[in-house]
Amino acid sequence: MSAARLVLGIETSCDDTSTAVLEGGRTLRSHLIAAQDVHRLYGGVVPELASRAHLELLPRMVERALAEAEVSASDLTGIAVTRAPGLVGSLVVGVAFARAYGLALGIPVVGVNHIEAHLHAATLEQGQSPLPAVALVVSGGHTELVEVRGFGRYRWLGSTRDDAAGEAYDKVAKLLGLGFPGGPAIERLAERGDRAAFAFPRPMLDRPDLDFSFSGLKTAVALAVARLGPPPHPEPQLADLAASFQAAVVDTLVGKTLRAVDQAGARALSLGGGVAANRELRERLALGCEERGIPLRVPSLRLCADNAAMIALLGSWMLERGDVPDPELDVVASLEESGLPMSGG
Ligand code: KG4
Ligand code: ZN
Repeated sequence: MSAARLVLGIETSCDDTSTAVLEGGRTLRSHLIAAQDVHRLYGGVVPELASRAHLELLPRMVERALAEAEVSASDLTGIAVTRAPGLVGSLVVGVAFARAYGLALGIPVVGVNHIEAHLHAATLEQGQSPLPAVALVVSGGHTELVEVRGFGRYRWLGSTRDDAAGEAYDKVAKLLGLGFPGGPAIERLAERGDRAAFAFPRPMLDRPDLDFSFSGLKTAVALAVARLGPPPHPEPQLADLAASFQAAVVDTLVGKTLRAVDQAGARALSLGGGVAANRELRERLALGCEERGIPLRVPSLRLCADNAAMIALLGSWMLERGDVPDPELDVVASLEESGLPMSGG
């Protein structure tokens, strides 16, 4: 238990640099997230720039996290760092820093799986989940539907065959001439639009499996935009496109997720990832959970996005479980090769 007392969490898997200090696997003593705005200039995450920004920000953010937690480095009992999945260059910055820091302090460094951390992020605010649970992780890089039977015990129910849900938001935002990231911009515009104005497909909703596909939907929006003629398009039309696109994404996510809940006999539903910020998605899932008499566990926005608090949490659990830190701590880009138990337990 004492090994989990004061854990420094480090997250650098994509374009957010984040650090946190977690006490006793429970109490967040500090939590910093620096979103790298530089990517807005390019309409998407530029891996080279992300690595460079992590390199610049991370040492100062670790110092700051310790200062805000009112602890010194020598008080730390462990370090948890994201080692997969993500952008390799970004992951390497976090892992190299964590290894050097851990070596200097003589404390264990554990490598955490970023997606596994999203599955459990709600625990920080809401305590342990009733089990089994179903978790939906929807972000710019992932659309994962997972049955959670306990820490380390997962059954993968579905994922996207092409674009992630957030990626679809970002690409459609580009088509509509909105900025990056596209999710918040589309959500705002959609509020003024008619969700039934365009009949976009609900990809794969009629298929019995629990996989997703969003690239066809993006193409359908592109064709609809082309049919409107050359830009600029009047705002009401753009709002209708945004609302109809969002309706298609949310209908698909909600339909498959609730089907997964029913099939798994889940006693709770967890939501995570940046797209979990979407109000329509939250409200529809909340309704579905209410009908089934189970809790919908949505972390606060900071814990939905990429954050080091959830990494510190998983690291605490790993240290408590007695995991032997892997001295190599190789980074892995893909979820499939990240070593997460995906089919049983
Ligand atoms: O988990 P996250 O912060 O990081 C990465 O995946 O890197 O997720 C970011 C994604 C972006 O694709 C963004 O467009 C989407 O989440 N997003 C949203 C909303 N806020 C962020 N999508 C829909 N509605 C939102 N309100
Ligand atoms: Zn994430």
